[in-house]
Amino acid sequence: MAEQPLSATTHEWASDHLYPSTQFVHAGVDPDPYTGAILTPVYQSAVFVQESVETYLQKGHSYSGSANPTVAVLEKKIAQLEEATAALCFNSGMAAIVATLSTFLRHGDHCILAKGCYGTTKEVAEATFGPLGVAFSFVDLSHIAEVEEAIQPHTKLIFSEYPTNPTLHLTDLAAVSALAKKNNIKHVCDSTLASPVVIRPLTFGVDLVIQSTTKYYDGHNMTIGGAVACSSIADYNQIFRARSRLGSIMSPMVAFLTLQSSKTMPLRLVAQCNNAQQLANFLVQHPKIEEVRYPGLPSFPQKQLADKQHSHGLYGGILYFSVKNGTARKQFMKDLRRPWSFGANLGAVESLISCPTVMSNGNMTQAERASFGISEGGIRMSCGIEDIADLIYAIEVTLKNL
Ligand SMILES: Cc1ncc(COP(=O)(O)O)c(C=O)c1O
Repeated sequence: MAEQPLSATTHEWASDHLYPSTQFVHAGVDPDPYTGAILTPVYQSAVFVQESVETYLQKGHSYSGSANPTVAVLEKKIAQLEEATAALCFNSGMAAIVATLSTFLRHGDHCILAKGCYGTTKEVAEATFGPLGVAFSFVDLSHIAEVEEAIQPHTKLIFSEYPTNPTLHLTDLAAVSALAKKNNIKHVCDSTLASPVVIRPLTFGVDLVIQSTTKYYDGHNMTIGGAVACSSIADYNQIFRARSRLGSIMSPMVAFLTLQSSKTMPLRLVAQCNNAQQLANFLVQHPKIEEVRYPGLPSFPQKQLADKQHSHGLYGGILYFSVKNGTARKQFMKDLRRPWSFGANLGAVESLISCPTVMSNGNMTQAERASFGISEGGIRMSCGIEDIADLIYAIEVTLKNL
């Protein structure tokens, strides 16, 4: 191996401005300066040897519990893709959420959380932070007057989810961010279900974006991971310390896999959104279907907001529907035909169906679920990239048996 690093590449970029698809491939990544490897090496090492006390951390790394070179490259990539100042990667989306909440909330503080947020986020609020003296209000963030009304003197965070899982409620991110700023409150947005291809919340004034990289960043049902993208370096520094305290940094191998899979995110998302739109169009006219929620449907109550905020005219790869008779849902799941699979994940190339009442929202009461618009016959579809004809035919066959 060369003693001195070679320059990363002798070739200059043709332009300072790169279009989104080029950014997704190249953001944050340079060829390895020692070998020319086009893919970032996996630095699978717990410790990084130091030359002297005086030069401690001169090469940037000491211990992979705090920072790791492979993870750092993914962080640089995510920061660029989310238009953040800096980003941090975690060993799960939930670890990213816990680190963020634990950074900004103390005993006596209050946090406004999206009504109908992901079930485990609600559980963390109520079972972990509630007993430590943090108060939470669950608010429908699509109504700005309700958000304003919920603000208290000790409100430190507004935590939105874009869109909510699984009923796809949207938030006017610019309006909520402006309200948060006016009241000296941070606005955190979990944008896992949308992905940065569909929306980049930081460009609407959001302070911090959370991603479960398990979903669209990975896109292949391979890994569990999470990220927080920060607009301010002060927030980044605080969450960095929280991550070390909580011991929740992403592993180098997961970072390596996510670095590769995230390059194809725009291609995957376009195919997934097209499939979701066509499935929504099919389901909405089917006699055995009661309700279909998809932001690209003319009947979707917040379609105008989606049109205003989303990039590239995309409405996301997830849709929610309910079969007419709630009890028929069990039969639907039993009769489900491939290529659909019954599973709890979302965002991957394989199409998946899940039952929110027993999975993502199984930890809520029926009444709580109903208040968020989740019916007992509710089904969440995460559209993959298979041929739409196969996906629609399989659902048609499954519905015939009901
Ligand atoms: C909106 C949302 N946020 C966070 C998470 C948690 O992510 P992870 O499973 O990577 O911890 C999920 C998981 O489904 C989710 O849907």
